[in-house]
Amino acid sequence: MSKKWKTSINPRGQALRFIRIETERPLIESATLSKKEHLDAVASEVIACTKCPLWKSRKNAVPGEGSPTSRMMFIGEAPGALEDAKGEPFVGMAGKFLDTLLSQAGWSREQVFITNVVKCRPPRNRPPKPREIETCTPYLDIQISIIRPKFIVTLGSHSTSYVFSKAMLPFTSITQVRGKTYKTTILGLRLTVFPTFHPASALYNPEYKEILKRDFQLLGKKLPKMS
Ligand code: URA
Ligand code: SF4
Repeated sequence: MSKKWKTSINPRGQALRFIRIETERPLIESATLSKKEHLDAVASEVIACTKCPLWKSRKNAVPGEGSPTSRMMFIGEAPGALEDAKGEPFVGMAGKFLDTLLSQAGWSREQVFITNVVKCRPPRNRPPKPREIETCTPYLDIQISIIRPKFIVTLGSHSTSYVFSKAMLPFTSITQVRGKTYKTTILGLRLTVFPTFHPASALYNPEYKEILKRDFQLLGKKLPKMS
């Protein structure tokens, strides 16, 4: 007799674990999972994923990490070299700057959830291809559905254009849409989206660095009012 585990969410957003026990007569059971257990199950699927060609060149997939009960999610583009080596999001130079921005806004990394649109590193850090985004984003969608954040901060144009498309908001360019709050509905959840530049852009552009600092200061002031 073999057991197969599959996780899913029901229309009320509850995490369900389906256990298929293959006997002569298939039997289906279900149990409610905690947010952490469900996120861990998604992470296990990501780590073993071979759905798009990026799995071939990765060292480690990077599912994302942070508090499963956070009111805030930060979404970047895709892992870089150090993230690929460690299997953790935003641990390179851009990640160090993100840590600084978070602490200036009054949060620690452990208080928020950080992930990316695409979970495996594209070769030579090229931007992810539309087909890779399309194949990988069901993982991001399910992470959003499990965490149910009140606030999503999109970092850079890829993450912003993906989240805007989910919210049916028109995306022009990151420069035009950044630094503002957008109250919207995504995956049936009422929440606020706040787009800003990608922290990596600050590493080569001092002007973007100042804008990012101002955007995070604004976030730090706005967020205590969100509940
Ligand atoms: N850039 C990203 O978009 N994500 C990471 O995790 C690291 C760098
Ligand atoms: Fe799977 Fe996403 Fe990695 Fe492609 S990028 S192999 S879809 S986890």
